[in-house]
Amino acid sequence: MPKNILLFASGSGSNVENIANYFQDDSRVVIRAVFGNNLSAGVVERCKRLGIPFYGFNRAALSDTTGMAGVLRSFEPDLVVLAGFLWKVPAEIVRAFEGRMINIHPALLPSHGGKGMYGMRVHEAVVRDGDARTGITIHYVNEAYDDGAVILQESVVVAKGDTPETVAGKVHALEYEFFPRAIESLLFPANG
Ligand code: GAR
Repeated sequence: MPKNILLFASGSGSNVENIANYFQDDSRVVIRAVFGNNLSAGVVERCKRLGIPFYGFNRAALSDTTGMAGVLRSFEPDLVVLAGFLWKVPAEIVRAFEGRMINIHPALLPSHGGKGMYGMRVHEAVVRDGDARTGITIHYVNEAYDDGAVILQESVVVAKGDTPETVAGKVHALEYEFFPRAIESLLFPANG
């Protein structure tokens, strides 16, 4: 039986596409669906192109936690991956997938995490604070924002003259390299 992945994404979906490409010839893994809160986000078009079902939902649907957990469970996911998802996941859903739900944050947590810290806002804070390094944190999701047990961190130098945009580029490069591999090692621990 292949391992099932569900992805959540709110924005452009470049991580979704990168993960899909990584596993496209791997018969051990199926990306069953992508869930997202924004129907006009780039991820919707990418899913169409990639042939992955996309399911949009609003706050009301997410706050019906029993219903939402039931929908997610119906896909029998081995792993639920937040790949650029910007809303807080309700506690009941987190509990339903405890140990099987992970998130990527575009900074070295606990720095620059928490409510409102996502995407470019994080990179702006890194440059503003003059951080010497930044990077990515892949972690289990718990009931607080950006707070669960860390699975992996990778870092990169913030050079003099870097802007939030150049920092974003460096962080995305780390995401593309390490996120699919982290997912693979969680799904197949013996190979990790
Ligand atoms: C990624 O950089 C991801 O780390 C970040 O959103 C971006 C989504 O980019 N996630 C967060 O900020 C979560 N707090 P993408 O849509 O191109 O994959």
